Amino acid sequence: MNSVKLAPSILAADLADLAGALRICEAGGAEMVHVDVMDGHFVPNLTFGVPVVAALDRRTDLPLDVHLMVSNPDRLLDDYLAAGADRVAVHLEAAVHLDGLLARIRAAGARAGVAVNPASPVELLEDALPALDFVLLMSVNPGFAGQAFIPGALDKARRLRRMIERRGSGVEIAMDGGLDAETVPRAVAAGVEVCVVGSAIFGREDPLAAMAEIRSRAERATA
Ligand code: DX5
Ligand code: ZN
Repeated sequence: MNSVKLAPSILAADLADLAGALRICEAGGAEMVHVDVMDGHFVPNLTFGVPVVAALDRRTDLPLDVHLMVSNPDRLLDDYLAAGADRVAVHLEAAVHLDGLLARIRAAGARAGVAVNPASPVELLEDALPALDFVLLMSVNPGFAGQAFIPGALDKARRLRRMIERRGSGVEIAMDGGLDAETVPRAVAAGVEVCVVGSAIFGREDPLAAMAEIRSRAERATA
């Protein structure tokens, strides 16, 4: 298996110093930066608008992994793509025409993903696999950083892994929520390839040391 990719979630960083958060991601060797877009409707919280994503894009060469927690991705998607999103996950629960949304993401040259809430079955994605580059499995109910990991996400990752192998597709599995030095190895062992980590990096005194520790534990889990 390839090595694990780390996607620090800047939602958990000092929001008055996003440039500093990007520097931490770069110095820690993150493969991408996870940006949680919340609309105050699909989830109760309200976070990063389109101009914030554009500003982040101007400040880093790391790929921006935009997680769209919005009720109407159809309306907002193109603006976030134009702002510089390199990967976009729309929520399965908010996507009326998932196929069309995924096609728009790919047409913009970005990687197309779908995010799946804890109570939504991954089996619903079987016929969407050819249109997908990655699946973002939620291991918390979306809305806030710092929530406890929901262990049922591990079985879901294993089921999704089997489905992907059965279909011979190259879809990548990402996981988001409650991941830390203890839960990341369990996720990786279940087939997760991209780990989104917020509080366990930015909530620590030494975020770079936290990233190094998470990465080394993740690598051991793949060995
Ligand atoms: C939750 C967000 C996550 C969150 C992760 O709605 O999608 O990306 O920021 O934060 P932690 O790692 O603290 O759970
Ligand atoms: Zn997220």
